[in-house]
Amino acid sequence: MQTMIVRRFRAGLTLLGIGVGACHHATTSSAPPDSRAISAHFPAHFPVDWRFKAGESGTVAPTAVVASNSALASAAGDEIMRGDGNAVDAAVATGFALAVTFPFAGNLGGGGYMVIRMADGRTAAVDYREIAPLAASRDMYLGPDGKMTDESVVGYRASGVPGAVAGMSAALARYGTKSLREVLQPAIRLADEGFVVDSVLFTSLDHSRDYLERFDGKTVFYPNGEPLQPGTRFRQPALARTLRLIAEQGQDAFYKGEVGDSLVAGMKRGGGIITKEDLARYKPEWRQPIASTYHGYKLFTMPPSSSGGVTITEALNILETFDSLPPFGSVGYTHALASAYQRAFIDRNSKLGDAAFVHVPLDKLTSKSYARELRKTILPGRASATPALERTITDGNHTTHYSVVDGAGNAVATTTTINNGYGSGVYLTGPGFFMNDEMDDFAAQPGKPNMFGLVQGEQNAIAPGKRMLSAMSPTIVLDPQGKLLLVVGAAGGPRIITATSQVILNVIQNHMTLADAMRAPRLHHQALPDTLRFEEHGLTPAVADSLKAMGWRLDPVRGSANVNAIMRAASGWVAVTEPRDRGPSRAVGH
Ligand code: GLY
Repeated sequence: MQTMIVRRFRAGLTLLGIGVGACHHATTSSAPPDSRAISAHFPAHFPVDWRFKAGESGTVAPTAVVASNSALASAAGDEIMRGDGNAVDAAVATGFALAVTFPFAGNLGGGGYMVIRMADGRTAAVDYREIAPLAASRDMYLGPDGKMTDESVVGYRASGVPGAVAGMSAALARYGTKSLREVLQPAIRLADEGFVVDSVLFTSLDHSRDYLERFDGKTVFYPNGEPLQPGTRFRQPALARTLRLIAEQGQDAFYKGEVGDSLVAGMKRGGGIITKEDLARYKPEWRQPIASTYHGYKLFTMPPSSSGGVTITEALNILETFDSLPPFGSVGYTHALASAYQRAFIDRNSKLGDAAFVHVPLDKLTSKSYARELRKTILPGRASATPALERTITDGNHTTHYSVVDGAGNAVATTTTINNGYGSGVYLTGPGFFMNDEMDDFAAQPGKPNMFGLVQGEQNAIAPGKRMLSAMSPTIVLDPQGKLLLVVGAAGGPRIITATSQVILNVIQNHMTLADAMRAPRLHHQALPDTLRFEEHGLTPAVADSLKAMGWRLDPVRGSANVNAIMRAASGWVAVTEPRDRGPSRAVGH
């Protein structure tokens, strides 16, 4: 099992371009953020041995743009906006297209979160996270010996009830201007006509062979026993048919009709527990985004069932209590960020869960007064040990985030996932898609690490109909004048939270351009393991030595999360996809 997980991570890292290069800290002005930020970005100064150069640019679009992990999916969203669709229409078109062109994480068999901010000021969040099937139970992943099995990660029993089709349909119905039929056309075309396989998809399939070949995707993704070959055209007639049924019949095709029947039958054949009743009962939830501020900038971000927005808000609130943060990359800056993340993750791991099932102290955790209390626990010049409460996910890059802005200034931040790359590995040949292994995001054995090292509390224990906790953090930021500034989010397990918030900080605290903000080295602290992770060479030796002397346990890692972001620019929008990603991520706009 362990070998398989490692291979799956490798496949993910390869696909998302994580794992090369070295870095050093960048130095920028750390003047307190203010309303000048949009017009006062200073060039970042990256050291010569950092893998990225400062001063690069992003994709500039005067009117509208999509930034996603697939050029074809971004183009699908752009096509819809060129045809007078708004950002929500485009986000839904992009989401369905990702299900075709990015089978690694794009999905119909998973779920996600969408934060919407319309140009007229309305904000909303759609929670279309998967839910535990009715037949799920607290100890379902424990073997007779009381130890965790691998069934929450791989195979037919690993899946939560998918929310993607319902969530995207709900967003479209409330905030879109086009029909499901219209926004599905690019995805149907891509599935029907196919797309050209690139070397990144080939390599990812090659690395995932040992578990994908255990299931029915074998014939589709390994024709003649070999992964889809680069340069060949990959057509998905079964998926095209599913998409057509959804276009014609709406979400009922998935939750009450032919697609659902085929899903349930396919899962049952393999010993899965999702029933027609599970599908029929699934409902996305409309939520109020968490609205927080950082030095006058306003953030709209995702509330539970994701932990992302709470943890980002808590960390930024703690950082805001510093009169002025030391310069980016310095000992003081790193100490402040790591200490803030450490404290926010302690709360994340022990206090958050599905609020329909457990009490979540949302107001307290996101309040400025609580941040001031936590700030008092940060010792200047001294790291504090994480109490032996929790550990959390060790790694992972198996989700996908896309950001969209349209010509009117409507904005959508969406993160969606089937958890691991290719989800549970189960491909349903009938409807033509992979199923998620989201059940592993529950605390399958509260207090004990799961397959990925995740140890969480009772708040996130399995219960039928409950949503599993997530780290997904789609976020929209307004400047102090109330104008849309940033649309941002990430893939990458708990690093979603730290990477998303550092891109935000780099823009509004460190006055970087978006291109530099995305290229700047990142750090990560998630409470336990009680280590400060930094991108290899992302701290200068002198800074690293000082941090060690303060008691920080440093852990150099290769790579970071996968962020896709859009920022307002003088000439419209600038979009930047993850620079660490060697895959097909692109921004497409006009
Ligand atoms: N499946 C990863 C997450 O939701 O955080």
